[in-house]
Amino acid sequence: MPETLTFDGDALHLLDQRALPVDVRYEVCRTPEETARAIKSLVVRGAPAIGVAAAYGVALAARRAMESGAAIDLALTDAHRILAASRPTAVNLFWALDQMRRVQRSLPGASSETLFDALAAEARKLQSDDVASCRSMGEFGASLFPAGARVLTHCNAGALATAGYGTALGVIRSAHRQGKIDRVFADETRPVLQGARLTAWELVNDQIPTTLITDSMAGFLMSRGEINCVVVGADRIVANGDVINKIGTYSLAVLAREHRIPFYVAAPRSTFDLATPTGKDVTIEERDPMEVLEFGGIRVAPVGVDVRNPAFDVTPFALVTAIICETGVAQAPIAEALIRLVALPFDPALDPAVR
Ligand code: MRU
Repeated sequence: MPETLTFDGDALHLLDQRALPVDVRYEVCRTPEETARAIKSLVVRGAPAIGVAAAYGVALAARRAMESGAAIDLALTDAHRILAASRPTAVNLFWALDQMRRVQRSLPGASSETLFDALAAEARKLQSDDVASCRSMGEFGASLFPAGARVLTHCNAGALATAGYGTALGVIRSAHRQGKIDRVFADETRPVLQGARLTAWELVNDQIPTTLITDSMAGFLMSRGEINCVVVGADRIVANGDVINKIGTYSLAVLAREHRIPFYVAAPRSTFDLATPTGKDVTIEERDPMEVLEFGGIRVAPVGVDVRNPAFDVTPFALVTAIICETGVAQAPIAEALIRLVALPFDPALDPAVR
């Protein structure tokens, strides 16, 4: 698997996810502005990957100030503002910016050089900690899967959406390693096709048996017993357990409940937003109508039609069987369970197999 993102000390190299699976190419970001544009335009996407990219965007602002002699405080304030405005829904973006601000505040009056070193080190730590979290939730999640799992996943919550390994796909990878996966069904995930272009690509690369379906086929396959569990990622999980994830997630949860199929959500604690009471309180990104009006660059709807394009939806926790994170599995009563998992220690250096 090519790396989702790498930092060479001067620039952030992002695997351009708009081009996959046809082209494997990298976009190079040297400034916070370029990083924010890459996040907004989906060069890099997926909640944890957005967070890590934004962290490097802040480090790049310090690097530029170091070279130009610009006032570092102002440079970092601007970078935070620009990066925070890139996408509104995935809380990992704001969480990562908070981590970077904490490092900055711990070094009052420091030079641009000192701040660049500290901020780059913090961004690298966020990146490697995210991989460790994914591996840990992979182990916790795989233990919930039945033998012979025929699992449906939606959007892309894989190595591409994280610093590596993936959340929902991390659970699938760990379950596959344990011999529990019979087949994965990947929803194509209209309108941007993260399932078809990205999830199917990752799973085929890993030689995990995978069937691609269009979003509207999931209910039929469930009704025929062809799917026996669902696992998805999340962009935000709020205090009452509501899950904000890619548009279409809610419909799948309703279908899973109707067919008595377990519905799991895998996400690191950087996706938890326990200060927000319910899913109704979260800003849902509305994206460009052209994503709906076109398919593969070809117009598929008449000029003049109105379009809605919410990128995410809210799944009430009542439809969720369990939430899996790096410190364990949360079930009802969910508010208490989420607080308990946040309070548990997590050592990213420990191998998940022995944790
Ligand atoms: O619009 P995207 O592609 O950034 O949306 C991504 C998702 O909805 C993922 O399911 C979520 O971020 C979890 S990624 C581990």
